[in-house]
Amino acid sequence: MTSVDQPSAPTTAFEADIDRRERALLDAAQRYSFRGRIDTSAFSGPVFASARGSVVTDLRGNDYLDFNSGQMCAALGHNHPRVLAAIQEACETMLHAHSSHFNVKEIELAVRLGELLPDPLTRSLFGESGADANELALLLARIYTGGREVFSPHVSYHGLSASARSVTFAGWRRGHGSLPGDSHALIAPYCYRCPLAKSFPSCGFACLDTSFELVDAQSTDQPAAVITEPLFSAGGVIDPPQGWLARLRELCHERGMLLVVDDEQTGLGKLGTLFGFDDEGIVPDIVTLAKHLGGGVGISSVSTTDEIEDKVVGAGLTVTRSHSNDPLLCAAGVASIDIVVEEDVPAKARALGERLREHLTALSERFDLIGDIRGRGMLVGVELVRDRDTKEPAFAEGNAIGRQCFEAGLIFSVRRGGSVLRFVPPSTTTLSQVDQAMETFAKVLEEVSTAS
Ligand SMILES: Cc1ncc(COP(=O)(O)O)c(C=O)c1O
Repeated sequence: MTSVDQPSAPTTAFEADIDRRERALLDAAQRYSFRGRIDTSAFSGPVFASARGSVVTDLRGNDYLDFNSGQMCAALGHNHPRVLAAIQEACETMLHAHSSHFNVKEIELAVRLGELLPDPLTRSLFGESGADANELALLLARIYTGGREVFSPHVSYHGLSASARSVTFAGWRRGHGSLPGDSHALIAPYCYRCPLAKSFPSCGFACLDTSFELVDAQSTDQPAAVITEPLFSAGGVIDPPQGWLARLRELCHERGMLLVVDDEQTGLGKLGTLFGFDDEGIVPDIVTLAKHLGGGVGISSVSTTDEIEDKVVGAGLTVTRSHSNDPLLCAAGVASIDIVVEEDVPAKARALGERLREHLTALSERFDLIGDIRGRGMLVGVELVRDRDTKEPAFAEGNAIGRQCFEAGLIFSVRRGGSVLRFVPPSTTTLSQVDQAMETFAKVLEEVSTAS
């Protein structure tokens, strides 16, 4: 792997040509592209050109280890050959289909999901993005219960369409206009910084009890659902303690509300289990999947029970999206599920996570900046603090580490304003690539710790 070079005077005709191409593309972006992106608004390189497995390559030929799995959608590896073959087959048979009629690949995908998900989650419909699936899930819950009110923990991320954003509290709210009503926050189980200053297990899930006192106080008697991630990824890799999700489900059902689990980022093997709720021994009422469900193309799913499907369809629900049932997308979905099962992605996730944690634990003995290491499987977070006792968040240090690692050829994301680093290597990552990434990370940690 090479690192990103500082721009220098081109020495060969080839380099000059690449310089010109990159400049021309960035100039075009400056004129024609929209800037509002996550973590950056600059028209600067690198410009990415290709990807394979766990490595992405820029126009200049520099390789980067992608411990962000693209935008989390390449968790099975970029351009997985089985996904490419499925797409190729769709190109030769049928790309697009009308969603009124059934097509072969759409039925195959529904069957795969129905067989993979625990009973009674046998019925699936498809959306075009993660937000889209969550919109549909909330719509189902509202129609089924006849209620309106939806709740979600205050570190959640469910997407940026209207209803999904109304239950997204991890950012991207301010300055984005008004939101639909009837959505409220619950107190998240952020044990490292418990909002109630308690600790687990002696707290007895005080965050849930307090949250539901608020739910009951705020409700106009039209509760519909709680939507939650099983592990809050974008909110800072916040992993609820064992038993939290099961208790949440009980509290929902006591009030006639459905439990929707947004497993879009955490499902299909990433946490070391097939689904993010498996460890809790519960089955949600509705589950949404997205991200690596498409193996790199945009498809999402909503799965639920016969009973819920029957009632909402009986009430007149029509689900139609221009592309959600397309054979192209569904074929990629089928291939992705086959990869998850046949290549035992949960086992790979556990092995990658274990290696990452070994490195991070050793680094935490050298660097006081590391306040907490958490996560499950191949979704691992590191919370940085200026002082381990006061837990003052190390925002500037985290942002500097993220930037410098990127420049050194290691991509991961920085969350919670800079204080949480999130590592999500694709399942194709080798243990030696993990070692290599952690070597880069250690060097940068050393530099930033010395400078601060
Ligand atoms: C848990 C979760 N839900 C929903 C979404 C939104 O997905 P999309 O960006 O495809 O709409 C994301 C995206 O990061 C996510 O992580």
